[in-house]
Amino acid sequence: MNTSLIILAAGMGTRMNSDLPKVLHPIAGDPMLVHAMAAGATLDPQHTVVVAGHGAAEVTAAAHAFDETATVVVQSEQLGTAHAVDQAKHALAGFDGTAIVLYGDTPFVEPHTLEDMLSAAEGADVVVLGFEAADPGRYGRLIMDGASLERIVEFKDATKDELAVTLCNSGVIACKSDLLFDLISAVDNTNASGEYYLTDIIGLARARGLKATAVTCAEAETLGVNSRAQLAQAEAAFQARARVKLMEDGVTLQAPETVFLARDTFIGRDAYIEPNVFFGTGVTVESGAHIRAFSHLEGCHISRGSVVGPYARLRPGAELQENTRVGNFVEIKNATLAEGAKVNHLSYVGDAFVGSKANIGAGTITCNYDGVMKHHTHIGANAFIGSNTMLVAPVQIGDGAMTGSGSVITSDVEENALALARAPQVEKPGMAQKLMDMLRAKKAKQQRGS
Ligand code: UD1
Ligand code: CA
Repeated sequence: MNTSLIILAAGMGTRMNSDLPKVLHPIAGDPMLVHAMAAGATLDPQHTVVVAGHGAAEVTAAAHAFDETATVVVQSEQLGTAHAVDQAKHALAGFDGTAIVLYGDTPFVEPHTLEDMLSAAEGADVVVLGFEAADPGRYGRLIMDGASLERIVEFKDATKDELAVTLCNSGVIACKSDLLFDLISAVDNTNASGEYYLTDIIGLARARGLKATAVTCAEAETLGVNSRAQLAQAEAAFQARARVKLMEDGVTLQAPETVFLARDTFIGRDAYIEPNVFFGTGVTVESGAHIRAFSHLEGCHISRGSVVGPYARLRPGAELQENTRVGNFVEIKNATLAEGAKVNHLSYVGDAFVGSKANIGAGTITCNYDGVMKHHTHIGANAFIGSNTMLVAPVQIGDGAMTGSGSVITSDVEENALALARAPQVEKPGMAQKLMDMLRAKKAKQQRGS
């Protein structure tokens, strides 16, 4: 079926008490808007229209970072959800299919639920996503007559009897695009809030003899975020589900409640994750890799057989090929470790290539930044970098070459060569003893004098 998305994201989100537009507050590393866009994207929509308002420039940037083909329209005054959807009318002119309305602050609607709505839309003119609310609170109430949805009444406009209804409106609606805008043109704002309610299209559709129905989902999917406390609850709910999902997929989480995942974290079967590991966005861990405790990973790829941590930091562009080792207090950024390479202790490897089976000694640093520009370091296969080597980039270490401990390497080292770049050792027999005697005598003299 031909579908398009309309994602409402214009609201101010007053209760967030923030300069950041509400829909850009992150859950699992991505703005909540992106969660809604990602769920909608599984339907392979023809158009995605984001309705921005407060913080429109930032919302536009975030929308385009996820989907550069998305259309962003601006609702300069927030006059209600029907008015918000109406802003997408021009963007969807000529679109012949079903429009699905999502909210940018309702991040957890599941793809299979959207599929259910599209199926229901084959037999009804308007389909609303409802849920049985444990506490219906201020949600709009779905007034059903058997399988027919007769109308939606907003909390502020509801009678006592209507408030007793527990089947509530999630806000998600599916409707043929032309019909949606046609119905919206008949919505007015004569209600308790003085707003143009999208929910009024149900009563309008029924008055025309059209069919409306509701599809239901678990309340957890409709969780909306209006405050920082709800943002924290949404984060916790996401993490709990994502951990369970990983374990079902065959990943061992030794202490699941201490592992934090991103929306897009991918971890292969039989990977082993020790306690207190943080995944930022863009991490892929292949089957059988082992991530040890207290590691912080983002934008990196870890191949099978590799062991990372404890206390490792992998930053964007870290590419670990098979059977590599990255040990404690090691930072890797924008660098490839070829198969079997080892960086086991206290090192910084940035803007670099480390050849297969190369061994990087403790305390090695790629000096990649001259204060203005970044430079590349190339380390050949089987190279042995002595402890505390400074590799002043741009520099190349040939295959099988060695650097002496404590060297400051400023020019290329040819293959199989040993480079030593440190002050030669000077030895003075008996000098230590003489020096100590002299210092002790000086101290004794001072004490007598005081
Ligand atoms: C809305 C529904 C209510 C439902 C609830 C679910 C209406 C009239 N009411 O109420 O039935 O139970 O959601 O959470 O639709 N927005 C805009 N522009 C506007 C107004 C809103 O973009 O002019 C966006 C908001 O940013 C938000 C969403 O639409 O993402 C919902 O708006 P909100 O004002 O929160 O609606 P509710 O009163 O919660
Ligand atoms: Ca709301």
